[in-house]
Amino acid sequence: MVESPVLSLARSIPAALDIDRATPICDVELESVRSMPTGISELDRVLGGGFVPGSVTLIGGEPGVGKSTLLTQVAASMAFAGLDVVYVSAEESRQQVRLRAGRLGALAPRLWLASETELGHVLAHVDRVLPGLVVLDSIQTVHDPALGSAPGSTVQVRECAHRLVREAKQRDLAVVLVGHVTKEGGLAGPRALEHVVDTVLCFDGDRHHALRLLRAEKHRFGSTADLGLFEMTETGLQPVPDASALFLADRRPCVPGSAVVPTLDGHRPMLVELQALVATTNLPLARRSAQGVDGGRLAFLLAVLERRARLSLTGSDVFALAVGGVRVVEPGADLALALAVASSLSDTPLPSDLVACAEIGLGGELRQAGQTARRLAEAARLGFTCALLPHSAPDPPLGLRALRAATIADALRLAGLAPLVASSRDEPQTTTGRYSAAG
Ligand code: TYD
Ligand code: MG
Repeated sequence: MVESPVLSLARSIPAALDIDRATPICDVELESVRSMPTGISELDRVLGGGFVPGSVTLIGGEPGVGKSTLLTQVAASMAFAGLDVVYVSAEESRQQVRLRAGRLGALAPRLWLASETELGHVLAHVDRVLPGLVVLDSIQTVHDPALGSAPGSTVQVRECAHRLVREAKQRDLAVVLVGHVTKEGGLAGPRALEHVVDTVLCFDGDRHHALRLLRAEKHRFGSTADLGLFEMTETGLQPVPDASALFLADRRPCVPGSAVVPTLDGHRPMLVELQALVATTNLPLARRSAQGVDGGRLAFLLAVLERRARLSLTGSDVFALAVGGVRVVEPGADLALALAVASSLSDTPLPSDLVACAEIGLGGELRQAGQTARRLAEAARLGFTCALLPHSAPDPPLGLRALRAATIADALRLAGLAPLVASSRDEPQTTTGRYSAAG
């Protein structure tokens, strides 16, 4: 139960003359959105340019993921560029924020710090400094005493956010709100806020890895399909412009059980190494473990491998993971994951310059993954020379040779994992040649 006091019932109906009349859609004048670049490349990529004056952005994420770190860097970057920025820290003291900023090289003369929890005081600071950007860390800790309920309650969070949205519009000010989210997406606060604000960013990453992913879940001024990547280092968050190079940096080619997939997150293609290990077990119930790949999808692929490619996986533990702390849960990674499992089972490495990209159906048939052309361009850029694809997929770019297969059994043969697949009558023989490494 959430207490929600009714604040004001009095609501005047405007006289007909006061109303801004409706306009035919073609007569509406277009005003290009003026966005302010933040100077942090991966954030600008996600925002499609930068923060928009008069807009409110919410950045959600679990405690400890790096929201304060990112926003301290953003605030400093914009302050160094000549904008007055107010950073309101409602959770940490000014000294704590100063200490962090020192480590991040974020001591910008035009960056103003305030440690406040009362909304009225926050607005007073804004009146005094007249900044172009206000960062409020976090929305759950500011409150308006006039509302009566406790800080962090749904009423407080929602009303404070409404107030800030109005202030942002009136003052043509960009406002960024930090919101904590629990693993379950819980805490009424941020979820209740999503409708109020213009942009919702989501910052997440695996606690045990340095990689952090930034996505827009809602964006009134542009697309939500771009992904921003950062690495958490001792000196703050570093943009990762070349994700594929990072994910493949420690890859050891020619190890059985390793396959590379050109995966897609939003519009951003990334090459990721998928690994599988098949090991015999003495336990009555074989284990299946998936890290960074979907457990349900793995179980499905194991069943398809058994039934459609005659692999024997009963009595074997199967471990599968996506390397680098990234999550690859899209069906376009099916073929690569299946190849990794088959490669480990047969103890035969896949060709080191091969990528695989296709969805697999229940019948073992290969289907084209979405935006295959984009994925193949990334594989070619990273120097891969061969792509295992379904027949329907577009031709790969220069430098990349297509090996086309109709079924998973075909694909295993083409990838050089033939000896373990008994050629069966119900599988049509392939018309394309087997993989042979050129040179
Ligand atoms: P923080 O930004 O405080 O997280 P949030 O505001 O989302 O709760 O960052 C938390 C973690 O980041 C903390 O465990 C320490 C780590 N960190 C670094 O690794 N390098 C750094 O330069 C900074 C400032 C933090
Ligand atoms: Mg914080």
